[in-house]
Amino acid sequence: MVQATPLLLVLFLALGAQGLQATEQCKLTGHWQNDLGSNMTIYEVKENGDFTGKYLTAVAVSPLKIVESPLLGSQQLQYLSQPTFGFTVHWNFSDSISVFTGQCFVDKDGKEVLKTMWLLRLHSEKLADDWKATLVGYNIFWRKKELMD
Ligand code: BTN
Repeated sequence: MVQATPLLLVLFLALGAQGLQATEQCKLTGHWQNDLGSNMTIYEVKENGDFTGKYLTAVAVSPLKIVESPLLGSQQLQYLSQPTFGFTVHWNFSDSISVFTGQCFVDKDGKEVLKTMWLLRLHSEKLADDWKATLVGYNIFWRKKELMD
């Protein structure tokens, strides 16, 4: 048990190092997975807050084969510790468009989490069907473990 103590200390420090301190910034850049199993990569956030990325949804309304789709977004720059943001996903395999808006938070364990709401606009053949063409929902994203940081 005496020999186990340094090992536990190393384990504790290694696990703790993965979380962020409360003062650190919640960054959008990186690889994320949401509660539906969808994967998203956000590339570099530019100085003005704009960013691009790619989205591989795990689920779809469209019956067509799912493929990776580009996203285009922007974040606010006032509160870099927990910024608000929005992005559009231009689905490559369907005629729909999704918009997400949300905020990047650091939770009590120092882990980053994106709390979002989305609208999914389906294509409508006629005006009379417009009322059923927009879906709304929530997604939570967690940062994926990076093999190399
Ligand atoms: C389509 O079916 O026409 C496009 C795919 C839509 C996927 C939606 S967007 C909101 C929700 N969150 C996800 O990660 N996927 C679904």
